[in-house]
Amino acid sequence: MVSRTSMFRSIVEHAHNSIKGKTSALKNIPNTTGSNYSKFDQLTNGQKIEVLSAIKSLKSYETNSKGVNERRKELFKKMSWTQQNLGEKVGYLQKLKSIDKAIDTNQKFIDDVANYAVSNYGVSQKDFELLENESSNSSGNNYRVIEALGHYTRDWTPNNISLELLPIFEYIASQLEMLIDYRQKKDTVLVFPGSGLGRLAYEFAKWDYGAVYSVENSGLMNLFVDFNYSNNTKPYTIHPYIHTNSDFYNTKSQLRTFEYKPIGETNKPESLHIAQKDFTQFEIPDRDKYKNVVIVSVFFLDTAENLFNYLDTIGKLAKPSGNVERGYWINAGPLKYGSAAQVELNADELAEARKNLGWVDAQSVYTIYDPLSLGNKTGLVGYLTDKESMWQGYYGLNLFTTSRKENKSYKDTTLG
Ligand SMILES: C[S@@+](CC[C@H](N)C(=O)[O-])C[C@H]1O[C@@H](n2cnc3c(N)ncnc32)[C@H](O)[C@@H]1O
Repeated sequence: MVSRTSMFRSIVEHAHNSIKGKTSALKNIPNTTGSNYSKFDQLTNGQKIEVLSAIKSLKSYETNSKGVNERRKELFKKMSWTQQNLGEKVGYLQKLKSIDKAIDTNQKFIDDVANYAVSNYGVSQKDFELLENESSNSSGNNYRVIEALGHYTRDWTPNNISLELLPIFEYIASQLEMLIDYRQKKDTVLVFPGSGLGRLAYEFAKWDYGAVYSVENSGLMNLFVDFNYSNNTKPYTIHPYIHTNSDFYNTKSQLRTFEYKPIGETNKPESLHIAQKDFTQFEIPDRDKYKNVVIVSVFFLDTAENLFNYLDTIGKLAKPSGNVERGYWINAGPLKYGSAAQVELNADELAEARKNLGWVDAQSVYTIYDPLSLGNKTGLVGYLTDKESMWQGYYGLNLFTTSRKENKSYKDTTLG
């Protein structure tokens, strides 16, 4: 995944250096495999490594995050006594202590997620030997855990959809209403590639479509998603903003909490399917059951190393064939490429590429030029943006809705 919170990476890397040599114990991992082990056994080697390193990162969150705080305390001690006294007087050291406590609170939630994953996959200590030759390490991955915690404020605000997702939700909803005849809802499958913590897929799965696939390849995101739909619906407190000391007006703001209650197994919409895999390997199960395929990409396209591979996959999934009569693609996102992108198209180039690949645009909006399309004055939306911070990041979006040129007209089909 392309991180939009890369500032965390440097913080975490510093921490890693400061705690180098300390091996974080993999606590509470059983010595023998559990009853669900066949679920783990069926995974590909790559998927196994994703799951195991995600568990390891979760279990190491406290050590790694406190390592960052310890380093702060060490740096503080480099100042003169007078300066340290002043720092203490204004509450700086007390703040660092409160951060440690907040890390403990976060770890309680994270431990439950990790322990659920251990039992859900039935893994034991021995399985973690698979990670021995892996170059990535859990402290290096701590920024991903921190990022995932930030995603709760985006995805799992209680009751209402978050202000960050709302304009995107409304855009997708309006496009779906326009594209899909209401009599064919059950004949329609929606696919959300790179769905993160999955709120949008969940919301649209409540809308009577035949099936909704939430496709995500990050082991870490997937463990959080699994936990969301487990039979544990205990409430949790999360401190999403404690991992940096920069740009806060006060400590209260930094220590703000987020209350999260997992959705639970029984509340998972029946039509929602979680596909834990690389989108480019994804195929729609029983595709012939559907007449309409809609791909819904949100903040996803720019995560590609090879954008043309994503376009190929989207085309393959949506192009009418077999019983599928119509294919559509709705997109909402910026184009902020990662450091290894093999091609970095701007929105105009992407529109041209779509045309060349057999897509016919129904609509393409550049929100910066057309802010009202997002229902605000700026055409910008946040992504894990802390509205109380002195530093805030916002994105203009390219919203588009496009249809396969091969699509059958509704006139030529039996409805209802
Ligand atoms: C920028 S995040 C956006 C998440 C979500 N769509 C949202 O708007 O909150 C991109 C997501 O795509 C996932 N991702 C990246 N490449 C992927 C791939 N090839 N297959 C499936 N998921 C992928 C990442 O792990 C990450 O969760």
